[in-house]
Amino acid sequence: MTSTKPLRCVVLLSGSGTTLQNLIDQQELGQCPIEIVRVISSHKEAFGLERARKHNIPAVAFHRKDYDTWETFNEDLVRAVDEVKPDLILLAGFMFLFRPGPEYHGRIMNVHPALIPAFCGKGMYGHHVHEAVLAYGVKITGATVHFVDEGYDTGPIILQKAVEVYDDDTPETLAARVQAAEREIYPEAIRLFAANRLRIEGRRVKIVDPPLLDPSM
Ligand code: GAR
Repeated sequence: MTSTKPLRCVVLLSGSGTTLQNLIDQQELGQCPIEIVRVISSHKEAFGLERARKHNIPAVAFHRKDYDTWETFNEDLVRAVDEVKPDLILLAGFMFLFRPGPEYHGRIMNVHPALIPAFCGKGMYGHHVHEAVLAYGVKITGATVHFVDEGYDTGPIILQKAVEVYDDDTPETLAARVQAAEREIYPEAIRLFAANRLRIEGRRVKIVDPPLLDPSM
């Protein structure tokens, strides 16, 4: 049996929040069984905060530059997440490592704008990824949704979607097509999680049918 209640989600972001907007839109259309209970930003001026407030989602910023160390920054993030006890944590263009306690293992997802393990890791986010893809000259890139572990973009992969690179692409035109892929696979991964159909086996995530038994039963 799977839960019919929406998943209580916290979204972490650093920038313009188009990924958050997609999740809000999907939720409002009834396409994604989530309730976003808090948005947390690493930047005070992130436009994602505006988007959250416009939809009456409580939003808070912990400005990374106000902290001397990543550890104290992470502590405040973890406290803000723990306060609302989410079922699922969604990274949506969040630029920093985020490390909550082991109780969130298998309950944090990220979307990355490339086909992991290519063009990922520290410093590889947003437009840097698309610039690197074009500089290298690969013909295929794409989007990846994965569970978050201790490293940068190293957790088990849930879904990927390939995107062709065109000769006349710029980082902007390529980003637009990759983000369209992200808009498809992020809600799909969340739907699979909500339906209890994701089974993590080491590095692999299997999509099972029928769903796994609800562990709370
Ligand atoms: C998205 O394309 C997301 O995949 C990427 O940042 C963008 C955020 O855009 N994330 C990463 O690069 C993570 N390594 P947004 O702020 O408009 O949602």
